[in-house]
Amino acid sequence: MLSEFQETLLQSVKAYQSTQLVKNKYENVLQHLDSGIMLFDSDGVLTFVNVQMARLLEIPRHSLIGCNLLQLLRHPHLSRFKKKKILRLYRETIFYRKKNHELVDEYGRYWLTTVTYGDQMDGDFLLSVKDVSDFKLIEQTAYQNDKLAMLGKISAAIAHEIRNPLTAIRGFIQLLRPHLIQLGRDEYARIILTEIDRANDIIYEFLNSSKPTAPQKTVMSITSLLKEVVLLTESEALMKGCEIHLKEADTVMNVSIDVKQIKQVLLNMIKNAMDAIEEVEGDHAGVIDIHVKPEGRYVNVTIRDNGNGMDKALLARLFDPFFTTKEKGTGLGLSVSYRIIKNHRGHIHVDSVKGAGTVFVIALPLVI
Ligand SMILES: Nc1ncnc2c1ncn2[C@@H]1O[C@H](COP(=O)(O)OP(=O)(O)O)[C@@H](O)[C@H]1O
Ligand SMILES: [Mg+2]
Repeated sequence: MLSEFQETLLQSVKAYQSTQLVKNKYENVLQHLDSGIMLFDSDGVLTFVNVQMARLLEIPRHSLIGCNLLQLLRHPHLSRFKKKKILRLYRETIFYRKKNHELVDEYGRYWLTTVTYGDQMDGDFLLSVKDVSDFKLIEQTAYQNDKLAMLGKISAAIAHEIRNPLTAIRGFIQLLRPHLIQLGRDEYARIILTEIDRANDIIYEFLNSSKPTAPQKTVMSITSLLKEVVLLTESEALMKGCEIHLKEADTVMNVSIDVKQIKQVLLNMIKNAMDAIEEVEGDHAGVIDIHVKPEGRYVNVTIRDNGNGMDKALLARLFDPFFTTKEKGTGLGLSVSYRIIKNHRGHIHVDSVKGAGTVFVIALPLVI
């Protein structure tokens, strides 16, 4: 028989063991939380650090426990970058008493830090750090989209308004032309007219890109469209010293497209290829290879040139509206093409090697 004392002792041990179990369980949960957690006691000594926090600091966990803030800042494994961030965090949250502070780490990720102390913490200081990069990205994209939509509307209105005075100028220059010819200054009229036409082209392309009309679709063979486009561009290509080879496929591949829009895309691409070939210095036999191939539910139209090619930086900005490397370029060709192809539920892929050439692949859904 157990004495009353032993009975009480046994119960206390059991109670202790079960609290210990619960404690271990919660500690385990805290350890593996995806947020970083750090707890300082009222003497400023670090009593708890979870796995994520140690990972963030890039310091082994066991060497952190027992440190105070000063020791942490002097820790041999702590990078200068992190030290600066911690000092900033300390200033913002303890000195200026801000509850939250946002910081960006050296890998470009955003972290929201929260400090909790006071009565609710029994004198302890709790620091938690949460990865908010994904929210940040959504926020930034939404802001960017808003800005772009607004900018698009304003620019479309301005562009439209500019066309009217341009038309008037064009008309009056034509009326003045005979007088300029008399003065032997026909050249001036010619330059003014071509420049007005260029301005009109830019506005036309821009309005097209900011207000893409819904595609007026017809079903047709992609090969016959390509043949037509090649016919349209061949003479210009020959003049620029390059050849266009169209390799047809045996099978009939039908696509449901807005013929005018897809023609515009193909002309843009071929024109770009010709420009790229012209850029190559010296005697250069330019070749533009075009071929079509079915791939699953899509047809791939490949346009390959041996022009000057592009580096990574240029490739990254290729589809940006108004991005151009050409003196007389508008920088709208590819951004408009991208939008047209997207409206057709297709996609554009591009690959390029600086100094060697470029390949554009346009994938369009097949009509089966
Ligand atoms: N096939 C190509 N080879 C090399 N560079 C190209 C090619 N296609 C496009 N580019 C680059 O992309 C830029 C943007 O093209 P685009 O949107 O058609 O505008 P633009 O032709 O008016 O400059 C060009 O200025 C050029 O630098
Ligand atoms: Mg172009």
